Amino acid sequence: MELATFTDIQKLRKQFPILHQQVNGYPLVYLDNAATTQKPLSVINAIDDYYKRYNANIHRGAHHLANIATEAFEEVRSKTKSFLNASETSEIIFTSGTTDAINLVAQTWGRKNLQPGDEILVSMLEHHSNIVPWQLIAEEKGASLKVIPLTGSGEWDLSAIDSLLSSKTKLVAVNHVSNALGTINPIKTLIDKAHAIGAMILIDGAQAVAHFPVDVRALDCDFYCYSAHKMFGPTGTGVLYGKKELLEAMPPYRGGGEMISSVSFEKTTYNELPHKFEAGTPNIEGVIAMGAALDFIHSLDWSAMEQHEQELLSYATDKLSAISGLRIYGTAQHKVGVISFLVGDLHPYDVGTLLDKQGVAVRTGHHCTEPLWNFCKVTGSVRISFSVYNTIEEVDAFIAALHKTLSILK
Ligand SMILES: Cc1ncc(COP(=O)(O)O)c(C=O)c1O
Repeated sequence: MELATFTDIQKLRKQFPILHQQVNGYPLVYLDNAATTQKPLSVINAIDDYYKRYNANIHRGAHHLANIATEAFEEVRSKTKSFLNASETSEIIFTSGTTDAINLVAQTWGRKNLQPGDEILVSMLEHHSNIVPWQLIAEEKGASLKVIPLTGSGEWDLSAIDSLLSSKTKLVAVNHVSNALGTINPIKTLIDKAHAIGAMILIDGAQAVAHFPVDVRALDCDFYCYSAHKMFGPTGTGVLYGKKELLEAMPPYRGGGEMISSVSFEKTTYNELPHKFEAGTPNIEGVIAMGAALDFIHSLDWSAMEQHEQELLSYATDKLSAISGLRIYGTAQHKVGVISFLVGDLHPYDVGTLLDKQGVAVRTGHHCTEPLWNFCKVTGSVRISFSVYNTIEEVDAFIAALHKTLSILK
């Protein structure tokens, strides 16, 4: 097969200081990007710059530093609006991440709109953070969860969806891309089906936004959320996009400073969007650095990047498939660069530990998708996941380390 055409890869890697180190005497091969990506210097410097030059609390400040910080913070809202092609900046709520965003929708939209007997449709591929918040609110409101089953390749069983959607379905909550298997889900089909029966739909985009462009208006989803740390940004920040009319009708989530318009012991009124959902001092440095991550993403050639990641995926899939006794979980036609596998009856943790001894960072376990692994009748997997800065040579190093691992464990 042809090797990577992402020609500036070494130049790109230079922007990521963490990649250039030895781990246990071997050059680091970082293949845990679905858990969190590494950060380019521009993101690290954005945090440094904020604290060195203009650390101040934002909004309402009458002084120079507060004004610069507020401007930098709000500029990221505009950048995020363009990144997602949202209609207005008021549709962009900053959260602490995907989990926080989903809990926000569950606790506000869910608390207001769910009734006893209502149903929330999720899929077997969901991360726990797109299951448990719905279970919590469903239990409180007397609603229940329905689950889209999977085919053997780890794709939604589309033939089952129509019978799962009914007038009882009030919300559909699914991921765009599976963190455990890498499946890219046909969300547009489901969005249209959900709307046809009058249900709302939330898309968990945690594993999508670092891999391909997302256009919330073209998708016509009601909510879309993601975490900055999975797209080259810092931890503790993320985004909830919601259609303005929905967000406006939702009650506030947390109470505190910034989310109010006026407070008295008799009556408190709430601030306008997006501040209504952003109580308290936000993660200012994180949001500003998330803006630097967006700039970094915009500096990439997306189609070359997608092609590069697909080449890594197919090269690694071929190499892994040639190993006797190795089973790949998730063989969907459309995947991002994520491969989950097991070898014979070897425990994933043992495989991961011996790979780490050779400098290769992978993830092992259930990847916060226990229902999926129950369905697969195993307890978890070894997972490798690629980002733009990974190389074919790193795949070769991983495969060599895996062979050595297997020769030790078998
Ligand atoms: C698909 C998916 N959804 C949600 C999450 C939760 O993200 P966070 O922990 O950043 O809130 C993850 C994290 O792995 C994920 O992969």
